[in-house]
Amino acid sequence: MANNDLIIQENQMEESPQSEDIIRVSHLTKLYGANKQEAAKMAEAGAGKNEIFEKTGVTMALWDVSFSVKKNSIFVIIGLSGSGKSTLVRTLNMLHKPTSGKVIFEDSKIGEFGKKDLINYRRDKISMVFQNFGLMSHRDVMGNVAYGLEVKGVSRVERERKAAEMIEMVGLKGLEHSSINDLSGGMKQRVGIARALANDPEVLLMDEPFSALDPLVRKDMQFELLSIQRKLKKTVIFITHDIDEAFKLGDQVAIMRDGRLIQIGTPEEMSAHPADDYVREFIGSADKTKVLTVKHIMMTPSCVVRLKDSPQFAIQEMKRNGTSTAYVVDHEIKLQGIVNIEGAVRSSRERLSLAEVQLHDVETTTPDTLISDIMPVAAKAKYPLAVLGEDGRLLGIVTKASVLSSML
Ligand SMILES: Nc1ncnc2c1ncn2[C@@H]1O[C@H](COP(=O)(O)OP(=O)(O)O)[C@@H](O)[C@H]1O
Ligand SMILES: [Mg+2]
Repeated sequence: MANNDLIIQENQMEESPQSEDIIRVSHLTKLYGANKQEAAKMAEAGAGKNEIFEKTGVTMALWDVSFSVKKNSIFVIIGLSGSGKSTLVRTLNMLHKPTSGKVIFEDSKIGEFGKKDLINYRRDKISMVFQNFGLMSHRDVMGNVAYGLEVKGVSRVERERKAAEMIEMVGLKGLEHSSINDLSGGMKQRVGIARALANDPEVLLMDEPFSALDPLVRKDMQFELLSIQRKLKKTVIFITHDIDEAFKLGDQVAIMRDGRLIQIGTPEEMSAHPADDYVREFIGSADKTKVLTVKHIMMTPSCVVRLKDSPQFAIQEMKRNGTSTAYVVDHEIKLQGIVNIEGAVRSSRERLSLAEVQLHDVETTTPDTLISDIMPVAAKAKYPLAVLGEDGRLLGIVTKASVLSSML
């Protein structure tokens, strides 16, 4: 016991770079039914799940799924009902044995674990949170959260201390001795999360944990999960069929269809470059402005002049580019302001410099700002927004039209 605790503590203290993989899944396949060989042949030739089932009676729950999960990240698996999400997550703790393929946790091949290794693995390394909570209604909140530690043989004082800490973490302080039956759905799932965390696992598996909750409660829980995950530095593998939830939570999102993994990427990558029509359709319902950032829609400014340029040059440039405004930059391309055609003509006539006639009411933003955040500004802005780098250099512009069309 003490040994295990020690190992976990050591792992937590280790400087773990973001790039380190904690779980690797390679060529994972799960077939249900007798005629697996025939089914595998068909799958290899590219046949779909329905066709395979019709011809062979075999259900292709997973076919040749490979990916890796980075330590301390949230990895979201999304797909329609029946696409294989639950099967996949249950092979990660061997609740389901794959037909073929490997699951590697850190450096261990899970499939080669004996009974005892498997028990230790499930108890110490990887915990599961279920959609229907899976709580024991005859025990109070404390009794549920402390259960895993009790099974491990942790002393009452110690397990209740740890459980109380986790109950507070999920926002249920004061409800330690409430009956499970008196709790709302959202509160029950908080208990589910506290129970999973009490064992101090490295990985949390969450199979549609928020699907049974009201939309508002669900939003709260998403926020809560994000803050807990960042605070405790756990790896979370999260299943959902809701694309907004996937994009909100996922550092990486994997999309499943009919047992196959179709695409993996960050929400941004997936929005910007969907692999095929299925993915495009799936993410079509997502609010893209909450994922896409300014850099995805910014353009090269059509007309840029330098402070030292003459007004005549500015007028010429505007004419040449068919625009009536020019962004003014200094010698380091740092934005100074904007000059319109009236200003340029006036400065030419009255022998003023561009600096004297330039306007400063140009709104600015940065490449990594979410489009949803600039929408109100863009809607009211007189000129396209200037996109500036950290050093104030002009990187591009964002027009009202490009902001509005990003929502389509
Ligand atoms: N024990 C089983 N026996 C036969 N088929 C199963 C079994 N478990 C799951 N399946 C089938 O495997 C496919 C994937 O199921 P599942 O992983 O539960 O999908 P999801 O979680 O994405 O809804 C489905 O077609 C389902 O009917
Ligand atoms: Mg499922």
